[in-house]
Amino acid sequence: MWSDWLLHIRHADDPAHEQALHAELKQSAERVLDGARLAPGMTLADIGAGDGLIGFSAIARIGSSLRVLFTDISAPLLHHTEALAVQRNIQDQCAFIQCSAESLEGIEGDAVDAVTTRAVLAYVPDKTAAMREFHRILKPGGRLSTAEPILRDDAIEASSLRKIVEGLPDKAGDNFFHLLHRWKSAQFPDTEEKILASPIANYSERDLVRFALDAGFAEVHMEFHIDIRPAAITSWDVLLGSSPHPWAPRLGDVLANQFTVDERLFFEQILRPQVEGRRLVTAERTAYLTALKPPR
Ligand SMILES: C[S@@+](CC[C@H](N)C(=O)[O-])C[C@H]1O[C@@H](n2cnc3c(N)ncnc32)[C@H](O)[C@@H]1O
Repeated sequence: MWSDWLLHIRHADDPAHEQALHAELKQSAERVLDGARLAPGMTLADIGAGDGLIGFSAIARIGSSLRVLFTDISAPLLHHTEALAVQRNIQDQCAFIQCSAESLEGIEGDAVDAVTTRAVLAYVPDKTAAMREFHRILKPGGRLSTAEPILRDDAIEASSLRKIVEGLPDKAGDNFFHLLHRWKSAQFPDTEEKILASPIANYSERDLVRFALDAGFAEVHMEFHIDIRPAAITSWDVLLGSSPHPWAPRLGDVLANQFTVDERLFFEQILRPQVEGRRLVTAERTAYLTALKPPR
């Protein structure tokens, strides 16, 4: 699931959209690396390394003396990233470790100078356990730097849509809001109960600060970025073929499985001109957190 989303669904296998996304991701990765304050000779553990965005950028920044431990829960992604390291001829300074962020088996305590994550904690059910593991593997004086999406507001928006449509006449087929809610609630939890049960929505940026403090970190600094801007997606096919996070079905699958033919046509008639006319707007909310494992 993880490799399929990261390597295909995130950009709907569209090279132009992949390039646009990559430019945004690169900016975010560089911000995370600024927070990690890497120096030559250090060891970095990138947790939930995916296709190596942070680890490879770190090596490009610091050079051959940096050692990077790429960890991920997904074996296919680790194999993919290892193959990329070989292609770049940097495999000797890289290690690939399959484990969950909540239990970093294979990495000893006080072993690394910096820990990074980007868009990983969001999917981890026990975020406090993960923070404790980051603290355990860091050397005293080592730094944590993370960038995590805050998807709670997307869930609250889906929940507001649910309340709106509950007050509308029950004629789903010809009411755009009914269909919009069906789409959004397939991708984000839309009741308080579901929000509380969902690792992607049951925490806020402030909770990340608390998790870090509870794990023993000091000098915790969090910057919350909200970016409302024209959507990068301007093609109907890309919108159909992509999904906003790895646990969300693609719009195309939602339409195929949860809409009648008439509903699909009606929905497309309204939404498609908005997408192709570049009138779609997205909101991204990201918490950038840095913290220090206190020196002994
Ligand atoms: C949205 S991707 C981000 C990948 C990468 N950090 C980046 O910035 O491009 C989420 C990554 O977290 C990994 N992941 C998901 N759950 C995890 C867990 N419990 N422990 C460690 N990694 C996990 C996935 O396999 C995937 O590589």
